[in-house]
Amino acid sequence: MTEPTQTPAAPDERPIVSLRDVRRDYALGAERVHALQGVTLDVERGDYVAIVGPSGCGKSTLLNLIGVIDQPTSGTVEIGGKRVDDMSDWEATSFRLYNIGFVFQRFYLMPILSALENVALPMAEAKVPREERRERAAQLLAYVGLSNRERHRPSELSGGEQQRVAIARALANRPTLVLADEPTGELDAHTGAEIISLFQRLNADGTTIVVVTHDEGLADAARRKIHMRDGKVVDGSA
Ligand SMILES: Nc1ncnc2c1ncn2[C@@H]1O[C@H](COP(=O)(O)OP(=O)(O)OP(=O)(O)O)[C@@H](O)[C@H]1O
Ligand SMILES: [Mg+2]
Repeated sequence: MTEPTQTPAAPDERPIVSLRDVRRDYALGAERVHALQGVTLDVERGDYVAIVGPSGCGKSTLLNLIGVIDQPTSGTVEIGGKRVDDMSDWEATSFRLYNIGFVFQRFYLMPILSALENVALPMAEAKVPREERRERAAQLLAYVGLSNRERHRPSELSGGEQQRVAIARALANRPTLVLADEPTGELDAHTGAEIISLFQRLNADGTTIVVVTHDEGLADAARRKIHMRDGKVVDGSA
């Protein structure tokens, strides 16, 4: 009898996000702001993590590093097993396009484009053929409950509808990871609750989500809460 062979962990069993001793200093004139002071954190595939903590503790700074919008002063950031902390601008842009869906507090939709065109835009950047991107954009708008708003421009949509378009856009290129910074920050409680249930459905359907929020309802809906203070994770880390 031979021993069963030990199979190495499949690549997708590794954490999808892995930060080690990450620091981020901002130079502000002669001063330095130590926005992140040694953050170590893992997020598993399929997880739904809320990052909470007082204003100025470094939540957005952390999310921007995970989203490859910014780079750390020191430490390492891996997304899906790939080092992203030292990418060139060009590499980072391309990496974001295919791997990261970002949702912002203020939606940032293109005002002159319809809801459908806004959702299709990242697919156009990814050179998806026109027919396919129309079809998928329509499917994504249906997923967020906006089939009847395809031709509306952002100014012809409510805040909650605009945020649902932004979430559909974040999903356009089937990202590994959806990140959101205060996605309910501009919305009233009722509309915010719709966004909270949409994120829950998204996670139940298999999307890994990291959200920064002051909204207790949103934080409580996540599988895991990470508390930050003064540039550090104070509990809930890897
Ligand atoms: N570009 C920058 N230049 C200098 N300092 C910055 C810069 N961006 C952020 N900071 C500082 O870094 C610290 C962390 O900021 P960050 O935006 O990450 O906080 P936050 O936790 O997201 O706060 P909030 O809940 O208010 O959004 C703060 O002290 C902030 O003033
Ligand atoms: Mg912030």
